[in-house]
Amino acid sequence: MTLSEDQIKGDIAKRWDYSSQRYDDYHGHGIKSDEEVAFWRALFGQIIPGERLNVLDVGCGTGEISLLLAGMGHRVVGIDLSKKMLDRAASKAKAMAQAGHEVDAKFMIGDAESPPFENGSFDAIVTRHVLWTLPNPQNAVTSWMRTLKEGGTLGVIDGLWNDGSLETRLRRKVGELLILIFERNDISRDSYSPEMNATLPHSKGVSAVKVREYMEKAGLRDIGTENLADLIEIQRRHMPFRYKISYKCDYYAVYGTK
Ligand SMILES: C[S@@+](CC[C@H](N)C(=O)[O-])C[C@H]1O[C@@H](n2cnc3c(N)ncnc32)[C@H](O)[C@@H]1O
Repeated sequence: MTLSEDQIKGDIAKRWDYSSQRYDDYHGHGIKSDEEVAFWRALFGQIIPGERLNVLDVGCGTGEISLLLAGMGHRVVGIDLSKKMLDRAASKAKAMAQAGHEVDAKFMIGDAESPPFENGSFDAIVTRHVLWTLPNPQNAVTSWMRTLKEGGTLGVIDGLWNDGSLETRLRRKVGELLILIFERNDISRDSYSPEMNATLPHSKGVSAVKVREYMEKAGLRDIGTENLADLIEIQRRHMPFRYKISYKCDYYAVYGTK
């Protein structure tokens, strides 16, 4: 069965609405330690240098990265297709403001493959763990290039989540089983349908080399890659064994300038 564009976008929103309540509980999604906060801050300080930048967080989810960037003093807009993810992000922003933190972050519905903004609207665009979920990743990167100001920076953080090897599949199965036993939580339900997976060119994750290719084709320059193996190690230090067992992948940031 071939899914229409509207069905695909509807399924994406439904799948992430379902994941929204527990999303931040998962290590690797929610930022879990001060050393992880410090790592992310240093990384963004490097790949999007500058102060009080207008930043777009594409596919912002629960706003974990948007709010980190807002905490660094940037003015952040987060877009996502999942209303429930955005509601979580907005309530986290509200809680931060009530706790006395100054956060300039807004969240709105918007498609990552055609962000609803005029050309040249942002100093920087960041996107974490989103490119792999997109049916048309090249169109997305090209549209991000359009939305950046001249001299602006794009930072893509993603991973090759599943290398398809027997070892990886086994580790994942054991991890899922332990999470089911210890948490009564069936994480296999946080997945796309086989029909959806068939529409995604990178349903098992995307390599840094491929992201670089998308960026080059979109016309970005001075493209660099940062291997995030050290971040994986930090995250692993803070996660229970049932997560650690399958938490192993090529993880990276690829960034470039318009
Ligand atoms: C794995 S989550 C990442 C969330 C967030 N970026 C983070 O790092 O925690 C993927 C997010 O991308 C969003 N998403 C997927 N396809 C999208 C699209 N076409 N437009 C906007 N958001 C999309 C999902 O709703 C989900 O919130």
